[in-house]
Amino acid sequence: MAILVTGGMGYIGSHTIVELQTAGYDAVIYDNLSNSNEKVLDRIENITGKRPVFYKGDIRDRKMLDKVFEEEKIECCIHFAGLKAVGESVQKPVEYYDNNISGTLTLVDVMRKHGCKNIIFSSSATVYGDPVMIPITEECPKGECTNPYGWSKSMLEQILTDMQHADPEWNVVLLRYFNPIGAHKSGTMGENPNGIPNNLMPYITQVAVGKREELGVFGNDYDTHDGTGVRDYIHVVDLAIGHVKAVKKLEESAGLCIYNLGTGVGYSVLDVVKNFEEASGVKVPYSIKPRRAGDIATCYSDASKAKKELGWEAKYGIKEMCEDSWRWQKNNPNGYDD
Ligand code: NAD
Ligand code: UFG
Repeated sequence: MAILVTGGMGYIGSHTIVELQTAGYDAVIYDNLSNSNEKVLDRIENITGKRPVFYKGDIRDRKMLDKVFEEEKIECCIHFAGLKAVGESVQKPVEYYDNNISGTLTLVDVMRKHGCKNIIFSSSATVYGDPVMIPITEECPKGECTNPYGWSKSMLEQILTDMQHADPEWNVVLLRYFNPIGAHKSGTMGENPNGIPNNLMPYITQVAVGKREELGVFGNDYDTHDGTGVRDYIHVVDLAIGHVKAVKKLEESAGLCIYNLGTGVGYSVLDVVKNFEEASGVKVPYSIKPRRAGDIATCYSDASKAKKELGWEAKYGIKEMCEDSWRWQKNNPNGYDD
């Protein structure tokens, strides 16, 4: 039996494949390569000694998904495939809803047709909106999202919840990620953003490697210890291991479960810059810019539910996150492109 990993060629997916294979699971990747590179397969093989089965296909392509379920024995699906650029989603809401929502509806329809009713879904702390409690527990009510990407996650959580209520044979695990950064220790796999990075850590590493002049810090007048935004950064390998634990939860017929995957610790933008400079020995010039639309002051998790119910907790701290992000960027200044 194998685990179908949609979006398995991407940043979080590729690290999850490594951890699944290391834990002895067989993984089948399904990805349209819209935001990833086929070289990831070589890197996974070099690390684990095993090349995962890969199907190039789109989650909106019912025929292609049918073929995968006919050819492979799939017991569950980890569903990463989706578009994730917040700013782009504001410009292209129809494309985002089509990819993320229509794609997921097609996927779950094909899954149930083939009798596979186990799914782990990549959700996000963004569903909490401007959270009414800090640290954020899973009991915190969902909030107003500020962009179509965030709404697609919030809506998909609702769709998968309704589906599980209507048919309790489904096991659905919703994982709400906080801010994944870092890279595999080998320095051969990591985040590979297209164009100008939207997120903090890839921007910092591109400044450090000389591809960009300086970091813009979006606001220093928030109600935080140094005025800059505070987030719960989590090492991507810890996040990947969280998925292996979630697979084990599915094996217990979990019903519907929701978990925060974070460290429970918040760092400001300037804390991250300082930790990165210490870890890399490279200075990161920055200047203070206006606040970015849609940003909130503080967002960090209470991660105790995942610890209690999944036996999972993050083990890497900010130092390793910075060291590993830097090793990846330094060794691969252009990501997976030569
Ligand atoms: P990523 O872009 O690196 O990986 C997503 C993968 O999905 C890519 O390989 C892409 O080619 C593939 N894909 C996209 N649309 C597809 C489609 N229609 N059919 C088949 N494949 C498709 O992103 P990531 O950072 O690895 O994120 C993985 C998941 O986690 C996404 O759903 C994302 O929204 C979610 N998430 C990410 C973050 C983050 O900060 N990185 C935070 C919270 C949630
Ligand atoms: N920031 C800067 N300069 C930059 C980039 C970011 O100052 O160039 C700041 C932001 O203002 C924020 C912090 O760094 O205070 C983190 O910003 P990111 O863009 O890295 O992350 P966000 O918390 O805004 O959002 C990310 C993902 C979302 C996801 C969310 C929660 O982009 O998709 O984490 O998981 F929903």
